[in-house]
Amino acid sequence: EQIEKGGYDHFMLKEIYEQPSVIKDTYRGRLLANEGIVRLGGLEDHIKRFINADRIIIVACGTSWHAGLVAEYIFEDLVRVPVEVEYASEFRYRNPIITEKDVVIAISQSGETADTLAAIKLAKEKGAFVYGVCNVVGSTISRETHSGTYTHAGPEIGVASTKAFTTQITVLTMMALRLAKSKGTLSQSDYMLHLRELDMIPAKVEEALQSDENIKEISKVFKDAANFLYLGRGYNFPVALEGALKLKEISYIHAEGYPAAEMKHGPIALIDEQMPVVVIAINNNHYEKVVSNIQEIKSRAGKIIAVVSEGDTTVKEMADYVMEVPVTPETLSPLVTTIPLQLLSYHIAVMLGRDVDQPRNLAKSVTVE
Ligand code: G6P
Repeated sequence: EQIEKGGYDHFMLKEIYEQPSVIKDTYRGRLLANEGIVRLGGLEDHIKRFINADRIIIVACGTSWHAGLVAEYIFEDLVRVPVEVEYASEFRYRNPIITEKDVVIAISQSGETADTLAAIKLAKEKGAFVYGVCNVVGSTISRETHSGTYTHAGPEIGVASTKAFTTQITVLTMMALRLAKSKGTLSQSDYMLHLRELDMIPAKVEEALQSDENIKEISKVFKDAANFLYLGRGYNFPVALEGALKLKEISYIHAEGYPAAEMKHGPIALIDEQMPVVVIAINNNHYEKVVSNIQEIKSRAGKIIAVVSEGDTTVKEMADYVMEVPVTPETLSPLVTTIPLQLLSYHIAVMLGRDVDQPRNLAKSVTVE
């Protein structure tokens, strides 16, 4: 096992550090940035089905559901197609409205999650076209779907999903870019920019990983907190949810993710000097608004840990602690902003002596209801 961990203390840490290379593996041979080509075999074969779809329904559980939420922003933004993201467990029992014009994307690392599988079967019965985004080759979901794309993240052993999440987003981004090209919903220059930026993601993730020591120091300060709040907006709202999920899964600290602007409708009541608030405050169209959320937290004595873009000055002055990530277009930003949050949860869990790779009560793959 020590050998399998490749010198890292835990599989989770190894998998976090593998992200630059596995993201590259995910798009290798599929993304030719300079030539302006994105090519996913499973998508090319059924591109008309996607183009003619009235809407896309994404079904998934856990972290994969969070990747689905990120995809909702990407698809609606770049492809201008309505997207619904569903917990597979709710969808399957809701008598959902599904038609033959719907495309269902099922996202699953293991490809074995029982609820996701049941949602796929239901969608197929109703005539929808079902596409899988799975990591495990030959898994049940990859066989039960009409077509799909593998993430190629390699085996993920840590129960808390890390590299599966970022590679799922990579695949979903490529799908959106390919469809945007066919549908003409993205200008040629924006399309090319996205391809080039996606090609730069591995290097940016590598850079984000370099803040590890700083994040370890921050973890020392907050490891004994009883609660954490995670806030983000737009593309980074799902990242806030995922950051909170990671922390609760492996450290057993209660954490909640929230859209930053919703804070005033509830969570603000919880803020006092005991409450660390992780705010994703990268330089994007929501920046000013997130800055005012930070002010509101500060005026209630909450402690701010902010994820900021390199070169940021405003939030840096306001926050108690910052974790820097390279500047990235908003559409691709979850791929980098999620990195410091993975590391934060990892270090806190280690400091608390938790079983990071096999947290209590959790399973890597939930094959029963
Ligand atoms: C379990 C795992 C999570 C995972 C979820 C969905 O809860 O512990 O890490 O996100 O199942 O699994 P899937 O394999 O379908 O992505």
